[in-house]
Amino acid sequence: MSEMLEDLRKRIDQCDQELQKLFNERLDIVTDVAKYKQKHSLPIFDALREEEILMRYEGLEREFFRYLMALSRKKQSKILIPYNVVLVGFMGVGKSSVGSSLAQHLGRDFLDLDDEIEQELGMSIADFFEQEGEKAFRAKETALIKKLASLNNLVFSVGGGAVLNPQNVIELKKKGRLILLTAESNTIYNRLKDDTTRPVLGVPVTKFKIEELLEKRNIVYEQVAQAIVSTDGLSLDGVIDRIVQSLFKLNDELAGSN
Ligand code: S3P
Repeated sequence: MSEMLEDLRKRIDQCDQELQKLFNERLDIVTDVAKYKQKHSLPIFDALREEEILMRYEGLEREFFRYLMALSRKKQSKILIPYNVVLVGFMGVGKSSVGSSLAQHLGRDFLDLDDEIEQELGMSIADFFEQEGEKAFRAKETALIKKLASLNNLVFSVGGGAVLNPQNVIELKKKGRLILLTAESNTIYNRLKDDTTRPVLGVPVTKFKIEELLEKRNIVYEQVAQAIVSTDGLSLDGVIDRIVQSLFKLNDELAGSN
């Protein structure tokens, strides 16, 4: 190797060592910020603050800081919420959209169980129901939950029927906390009235069917949930804030009971 290249590489190594030191220093500060935010019930992710930081930079530097802040959020959420967050609840309450946004907020990955099932089946849930029936679908659902619930640091959303099986609840609670999302039957109806992908509701979706099923399922949902967040009248960010506050409250309750 030429002396010049060797010298350049040495300088890169020095830069990296400095960066590593500063990176760890930043993560330590971020950890203190996380603890402060938890104590004062503040949201982990302050979009305005992140935007303010990003605006100081351009191009590659902005990309670098965007990633740095995502890693900071990941670190904060690992400390404050050291378990999987599992969103449960009726069809149409927004589990998937809330889940993917919550995962971004917490700097972690999102898994939508129904999407995973569809990928494994190689067909839509509606088609599978039609060809193989609900029992076969539930067996697939349970097998996949058993497999995926052992992963760490994730946000999950599970289909509306998943937690009706106590075995699934046991698996999901091993490493996760269950947050029930709710919405008024009118809201659910308005969201799902033209939907053809929910076989348990049939086509066309009626308000009667939704209310009938809600009444049967709500008892179980409320029994298995460790926190309940009503989404009515809230923006997506509002729902995320409520979920994070409920998780903090759950931590406090657990700390109190120890
Ligand atoms: C179901 C809900 C669906 C899907 C399947 C059965 C249910 O998921 O798992 O169609 O029994 O409530 P979503 O709750 O995500 O719609």
